[in-house]
Amino acid sequence: MKATARAHTNIALIKYWGKRNESLILPANSNLSVTLDGFSTETTVHFQEHLTEDSFILNEQSAEEDARTKIAVFLDKVRALSGKEIYAQVQSVNHVPTAAGFASSASGLAALAAASTKAIGLSLEDRELSRLARQGSGSASRSIYGGFVEWQMGEREDGLDSYAIQVADASHWNIRIAAVVLSKTVKKVSSREGMRRTIDTSPFYAGWLEQTAKDLQEIKQAIADKDFEKMGSVTEANCLRMHATTLGANPPFTYWQDNTMRVMQTVQGLREQGIPAFFTIDAGPNVKVLYLPEDEDKIKTRLNAVEGVEDIIISKPGSGISYM
Ligand code: DP6
Repeated sequence: MKATARAHTNIALIKYWGKRNESLILPANSNLSVTLDGFSTETTVHFQEHLTEDSFILNEQSAEEDARTKIAVFLDKVRALSGKEIYAQVQSVNHVPTAAGFASSASGLAALAAASTKAIGLSLEDRELSRLARQGSGSASRSIYGGFVEWQMGEREDGLDSYAIQVADASHWNIRIAAVVLSKTVKKVSSREGMRRTIDTSPFYAGWLEQTAKDLQEIKQAIADKDFEKMGSVTEANCLRMHATTLGANPPFTYWQDNTMRVMQTVQGLREQGIPAFFTIDAGPNVKVLYLPEDEDKIKTRLNAVEGVEDIIISKPGSGISYM
């Protein structure tokens, strides 16, 4: 009853921001991401009869209480699905090229979903795995697949139609995504708390929801057409609108730091010089930059020169779940 799986993290081009059901993790809007080959989590789950509780080792160290609880709550769902009352040792390693706060719940929960269901003897289709991973962390539903992935919000209140599907595989489009690591990062409002506060209190939230449905249609067309300018500009605008909702929340907050702004302005400056580059930002200060392979040298040189930039990690569209 032991299995190992690897999942890559993903970056949303159209953001998931707000839940319509908190306990089942049902999103308020459909959203879309690209899976990144540069960041992954490898997880081994070993169910054993003699264990009396779940344990969790992360990067060779006993994980903190919060993380252990999240794992145990998720494994309860796997036990319920399989009908087996048995506990597990879980070991995870995050393969992140630098220790700069890029570890992700998306790759973590996707790898856990895959390894735990295989170890307990369930054989789930990707769609079922995505639906299960979703209940650990929303963005994990997308990391089951490689390439360009849409998480369809669904309509049902039981969540059965809320899962991700692949829109285009990793070989469809040879784009690059640079993760820009910033030097000082302050403690952030978690994405869970941030989206809750925004949906509950921000008057801008309704406008965000209305526009994001249109953005999703446009970006799917841009991906199909491999129209980089279109894809990039929709991505950047969607990111800015998501972040605008946080400024309207009560109490207001932002994930941006001075470094974040400097990188954003550099990317806009690159465009003014005719180099197509676009940014997106999740629930933290770090920036991801989308560009085409032929511009790599210029992009790296310019980003490296920005004050506060510590490292740049380059990804291509990556693959979905794999088993070791
Ligand atoms: C800003 O998937 O981390 O990165 O479902 O509460 O675990 P939970 O949240 P999570 O949220 C990700 C939010 C985001 C946008 C995105 O990835 O779509």
